[in-house]
Amino acid sequence: MSQASVNESAVDESRLLIVGLGLIGGSLAAALRAAGFQGEIMACDPDAREIERGIEMGLIDGGSTRLAEQAPAASMIVLAVPVLAMESVMGELATLNPTLAGQVVTDVGSTKAAIRDAALKVFGHMPPTLVLGHPIAGSEKSGVAAANSTLYVDHNVILTPEAETDAGALARVRALWQACGAQVLEMDVSRHDEVLAQTSHLPHLLAFSLVDTLARQDQRLDIFRYAAGGFRDFTRIAGSDPVMWRDIFTANREAVLSSLDDFERGLARLRTAVETGDGDAMLATFDRASHARHYFESLLNKTSYQTEYAMQSQGQVTYRVRPGGSAQGSVRVPGDKSISHRSIMLGALAEGVTTVTGFLEGEDSLATLQAFREMGVAIEGPHQGRVVIHGVGMHGLQAPSGPIYVGNSGTAMRLFAGLLAGQAFTSELTGDESLTRRPMNRVAEPLRAMGAVIDTAEGGRPPLHIHGGASLKGMYYDMPVASAQVKSCLLLAGLYADGETRVREPAPTRDHTERMLGGFGYQVERQGDTCWLNGGERLTAGAIDVPADISSATFFMVAAAITPDADLTLEHVGINPTRIGVINILTLMGANLELVNEREIGGEPVADIRVRYAPLTGIDIPVAQVPLAIDEFPALFIAAANASGTTRLRGAAELRVKESDRLQAMADGLATLGVEHRLLDEGIDIVGNGDAQTPSYGGGRIDSLGDHRIAMAFAVAALRAGDDIVIDNCANVATSFPDFIELATRIGMTLDAERAGGEG
Ligand code: S3P
Repeated sequence: MSQASVNESAVDESRLLIVGLGLIGGSLAAALRAAGFQGEIMACDPDAREIERGIEMGLIDGGSTRLAEQAPAASMIVLAVPVLAMESVMGELATLNPTLAGQVVTDVGSTKAAIRDAALKVFGHMPPTLVLGHPIAGSEKSGVAAANSTLYVDHNVILTPEAETDAGALARVRALWQACGAQVLEMDVSRHDEVLAQTSHLPHLLAFSLVDTLARQDQRLDIFRYAAGGFRDFTRIAGSDPVMWRDIFTANREAVLSSLDDFERGLARLRTAVETGDGDAMLATFDRASHARHYFESLLNKTSYQTEYAMQSQGQVTYRVRPGGSAQGSVRVPGDKSISHRSIMLGALAEGVTTVTGFLEGEDSLATLQAFREMGVAIEGPHQGRVVIHGVGMHGLQAPSGPIYVGNSGTAMRLFAGLLAGQAFTSELTGDESLTRRPMNRVAEPLRAMGAVIDTAEGGRPPLHIHGGASLKGMYYDMPVASAQVKSCLLLAGLYADGETRVREPAPTRDHTERMLGGFGYQVERQGDTCWLNGGERLTAGAIDVPADISSATFFMVAAAITPDADLTLEHVGINPTRIGVINILTLMGANLELVNEREIGGEPVADIRVRYAPLTGIDIPVAQVPLAIDEFPALFIAAANASGTTRLRGAAELRVKESDRLQAMADGLATLGVEHRLLDEGIDIVGNGDAQTPSYGGGRIDSLGDHRIAMAFAVAALRAGDDIVIDNCANVATSFPDFIELATRIGMTLDAERAGGEG
């Protein structure tokens, strides 16, 4: 909230008395002044110099060291004294006005049970106009000189009303803090004390203890002189007011001790990990903590977690790929993106704990994971592809505190749309710049037909606003485009719909949603081109082993298929029949692909794929294969550029609405390399050079347009280029294939990434 809106909250107090004019009380006066508060502000403090200072600073109109002189004329009294001084101040107030009649009294103490106990002792009951509160704001500085008019802006103030609290008094205290720019929330006293013990009192205790421990060592001067940022960041709060903190630890003893016990247990676990050199245990802890810290940052800044994370990790990345190289060895590419997204979604909605292995730790699936954390789902990891999801059941998600950011992922946005349409809370889905251009009416329209209330931006683009509490009705939907995302979106909405949701697809599309729902014990039927389910059943948690992503493996299949002498094995690749268009198309072109060790893992077929070089020939790509290879065309176009004769693709208009317009982006890149081609509205003809003795094309500089698959396709093209290929805008490779460079180097390609700003 900005100061501009502060004036809107009316504080209708004729005279406000602040008892204890330190940082907190002084900042309250400063904030009210800044907000144009019309009443008088008086202060009472045992230190007359603080009062003088407050008057000089223009914060208060007057004051004195004696409460009896000030209290009777005040309409509202704010107690801003140390916690253990509250009882004696309240005692004095009680002698002046035993029931607090006609006055509202509130406090700012960091613990609440002790202050409530003091009030009960002094007054014999909780006076209805005594409203206990706690602004969660402060600084290591103390005294009125440190008063800051913006201290409370966008901070939380917790009020802890009791059953007997007067509603009018509560409203007046609420208005006071809102006028200072704070958000006011209510909690009961014991919850407040528990939460604060963990989030504020424990960190202060640790900071005091660390600084004291170091300060008592012989070389303390050196330690402080050379102290690095870590020490400074960790110990800032050890400069806080000692009396105030002594009082807090005395008053909130039980809750502090219990959070200290938890902390000591965690510390002991880490100690053992360090002692025994257990790197995995250390990594797991640091990893969880690091993600949790970014999440916390995003809550505080009211931004998306992923933006926080991406801002640190991304930047402009350019690939420089040397011509030539080999494609040898055996590699396992990262986990399947489609399955990874779905594993988190269904795991979160299931009852019980779902363990996922082989999870893709790419930016898109991490964004999905974080979105569920923001909706209250406890998720451990990911750590080396292992994620443990503590499912909350079909109706256990909580409203996220801000928009859900899904990064670059059309899949996430469309599947989330279906899932969120069935929730009781309202939500907003946003994504990166590329996603903001992609069509969402394909899901918004059928969802509306089911009863969902969804707003899109102009032209059916993101962001999507999904209104909570809509009652959904199952329906039959005949999809105009063959899209697994649309089908999955409607099936997910169908889980929450009344009756049957039935979807017909014009051509087979990936069926991971149906398979995984089945794996979670949710019945999905299929007959021919139509699948359906009934709403209102439950999902039961299970284990998911995510196979390697055939779409990522494709880049290396093509690498081996175009490079003379290549012999490359791709391990544990998912070969779901709805995904193997690339295998069918390359085989039709004459590629030597062998599926070995075929097996079924967790409801999905898997194999190792061995690819040895064989000359390729141009073909007319069967239209039925298009949806089965929809993500593989950028790489397949590179295969086509290395085949003898012409390869023709038709019926592929969908490629124009992927992460980029892939037909255009590939045509532009092929033109740069000097590959003959003809671009059509719904396809392309590519004339290849099948001569293994000469480079198939030249080099050049290509813009991937931030599309991961365009970037990786042209990187692979360099194996048969005559010169360097430089590819701009490659940061998004991390969305689906975070270790692409490492694996490409391992098979024999020579590839460097340059990050703008000079980092390697
Ligand atoms: C996906 C479906 C495909 C695909 C995308 C992932 C999925 O999109 O392009 O990368 O996980 O359902 P469409 O179904 O919209 O073609």
